[in-house]
This record gives sequence, C-alpha cells and structure tokens, in this order.
Amino acid sequence: MFDPYEVRKDFPILNRTIRGRRLVYLDNAATTQKPRQVVAAIAKYYLWHNANVHRGLHTLSQEASQMYEEAHEHVAKFINARSWDEVVFTYNVTEALNLVAFTWGMVNVNPGDEIVTTVMEHHSNMLPWRRLARLRGAKVVHVDVTDSGELLYEEFEKVVNRRTRVVAVTLMSNVLGTITADVVKRVARLAHEYGAIVVADGAQYVPHVPTDVRDLGVDFLGFSGHKMLGPMGIGVLWGRREILEELEPFKSGGDTIKDVTLESVVWHDLPWRFEAGTPNVGGAVGLRAAVEYLTRLGMDAVRDHERELVRYTFKRFNEELGDEVEVYGPKDPEVRGGVVAFNVRGLSHHAVGMALDMFGIAVRTGKHCAHPLHYRLGVEGSVRASYYVYNVKEEVDELVASLRTIISLKDKLQTGEVDERVCTGT
Ligand SMILES: Cc1ncc(COP(=O)(O)O)c(C=O)c1O
Repeated sequence: MFDPYEVRKDFPILNRTIRGRRLVYLDNAATTQKPRQVVAAIAKYYLWHNANVHRGLHTLSQEASQMYEEAHEHVAKFINARSWDEVVFTYNVTEALNLVAFTWGMVNVNPGDEIVTTVMEHHSNMLPWRRLARLRGAKVVHVDVTDSGELLYEEFEKVVNRRTRVVAVTLMSNVLGTITADVVKRVARLAHEYGAIVVADGAQYVPHVPTDVRDLGVDFLGFSGHKMLGPMGIGVLWGRREILEELEPFKSGGDTIKDVTLESVVWHDLPWRFEAGTPNVGGAVGLRAAVEYLTRLGMDAVRDHERELVRYTFKRFNEELGDEVEVYGPKDPEVRGGVVAFNVRGLSHHAVGMALDMFGIAVRTGKHCAHPLHYRLGVEGSVRASYYVYNVKEEVDELVASLRTIISLKDKLQTGEVDERVCTGT
C-alpha cells in the first residue's frame, strides 16, 4: 500500500490555498492533477527531443518517434493488451468512442439493427451511438439501472438478440460510481454469441481499477489520459486487432497511409492508420509517465485506497449528516469506485458547490454529462466528490465539516444571503 501523504508531495498544486484555505481537490472524475514526474517528462521531451515523428531521418525525429512508440507500448502493458499496435492514441475518450461509431458502425450497422446501451452512460458513450443509429436507420435500446444504481446482467439478456450489432457500456459510472466490469464480462460473451461487438467506456475505470482487456473480453475500450494523472489532449482507443485491421481511418490524411496515387490509397499498418496528422507526442510522453507513476503505486493499491476513502465517506456522512444528504449509487464500497454524488436536502447542487468552494473544496456540480441518468434519478443535478491517489481521510473530514456548516446555514443559502464571510466565519 502506498502512502498518500508521500504521494501528495509530487503534486505542488495541492499546496495551493483557495480563499485562505488549503485546497481540497475532489474533482478527479473531471480531471486529475499532474505529478511533477509527468510534467518533467513532458518538459524534457520538448526541451531536448522535440521533432515531428515518422517523417525524418534525423536524430531528433528518430528519438521523438521512438518515444512516441514506446508510449504505446507502456499503455498496452498497462491494460494487458496483446500488442502495442492495438493501442491508438486519440484526443480523448470521446474521440475514441466516436472513432468506433463512425468507422466500424457506419460499415456494420444497417437499417433495422439495434445498438444496446444504458441509461447511465456519459453523453460521450451515448450521443455517437444515437447519431450512428439515425444515420443508419438503426434503433438504440437503453438498459435501465436498478433504483440503487446497479446494472443487472438479466436486463441485457432481455434486449440483446440477433438484431444487436453493438453493446456500448461504461465500466464505471461517473455519477453513481457503479463498477460494472463483472456484468460487462458476461455481456461480452452474450453479445458475441449474436455477433455483436462490445465497446467499453473506461474513462472512470482504467485510472482506478487494474485493467485487463483480455479478461474483460470486450472489443473496444476507450479512456482519457487526463483522468489518470496524464496531460489533456491524449486519449486511448484499444481495439481487438482483427477488428481494427478491417477498418478504414476515422480521419484520413498524413501518416494514415502507406501509398497514395491519384487513383488509389493503401492504408497504413496499425495503429498509424488511425492517428491522422501530426500527433500529440508530448502528450503521449506525459501519458507514459503517468502510467509508470500509477504502476509504481500499484493499481490494486489505488483501488484499495479509493475503496477505503469511499467507505470512510459513507461512515462520516451517516454519522454527521444523516438524512440531510442523499447519496446516489450503490452503498457497498466493494461494487463502486471513488465517486460520490449526492444532494443536500433543500439546497440546489449549485448552491452547495459554490458554498464548498468558499471552504476551498473543489467538487463538480450539475448533471456531469449524464443528463438521462439524472432524469432517471429524478433530480436536477448533483454534487460530486471524486477521489484519487492523493486524497486523504482528513479531506473527507473537511468535506463533512463544511457540509455541516452549509446545512446549518441552509435558510440563508436558500435566500442567497450567504457570502464567503458567513460561510467561513471570517
Ligand atoms: C464515463 C465517462 N466517459 C466519457 C467521458 C469523457 O471524457 P473526455 O472529456 O476526456 O473525452 C467522461 C468524462 O467525464 C466520463 O466520466
């Protein structure tokens, strides 16, 4: 087990004071902070190795190309892919999921076909499929969650059939925290019996849970570097080689080809075929450093750490806040990750989020790009605290103490009379 207090030393931003208080950063599901090691790797690349990749014979270009390729290898190892060339670098997970919808989908989804997804998807794993269905005359079928926010295999059994071409499902909800990997594994077997593919959104899973694409049995997996200590602007699409090899590029242009005449084109090998134009080499180098950092901590330990923080959060919420706060998603920390979405009774999520900022606590408020899920829960939005490797129990205590103060000031907050001084007693 790693020591989160030691980990914190790698993140100078955590020493910032916000409105006179030490920053408590609990918005990790939106994006994580970056350790010195990641920033240093990016700086080193730009200061000493920068050149365009795959285009030059000169030393710098060779170095940059090697660093870029090695980044693919490290990511492949991190998710236990069979080979590095099954790893395609994208801009983010949103682009990765769009890539599958508009390459595989446009060719393989036909009128009358069905795409199965769930009500708890992030819009990024919902809207590309809906658009594909519209363009191809197909239908989207949504699997519901239980009232406690879980996904049941039996619900997939009811809707996956010979018309199904794609099952698009998250491995962890960015609102409910529900970890669905065990269900997804079974769904993958079911979908494959009908010749459908399974596309997994790993945006909240890969950064937090040991990931083995072979064990998951899915066909595609997408995730974003910036949610796992890496920089923004680099994401990953892992795909099963047999399927990737059949696909044409999503975006075509430089680097995607082996040969072009005025009449014909021969597409490049994997993964370059899908990485059109000058890639984000610095981002890839940063992502590699992030993956190395997480590997050093140990992904089992990362999962244990977050499970413990969630367990502690539930305990403290129960002890201190009772019925004043409604938490969404499964109550068992074993089946959920480090995302805790909640509402304070009688207060809007925005009011609570703004008040928490007065205490230096950064949370996300709103519908978290999961509008249909919030409508399903029957709420306008929620406050979301989400943890990562540098969060500690004292920060949970600060969240709870601040929420207590906010609850005690509820009347004033409702009428908008509260400002920073009232909240923090200064
Ligand atoms: C489950 C899930 N999927 C997709 C995304 C989209 O991520 P990005 O904006 O990095 O593409 C997010 C981001 O919050 C997410 O939580």
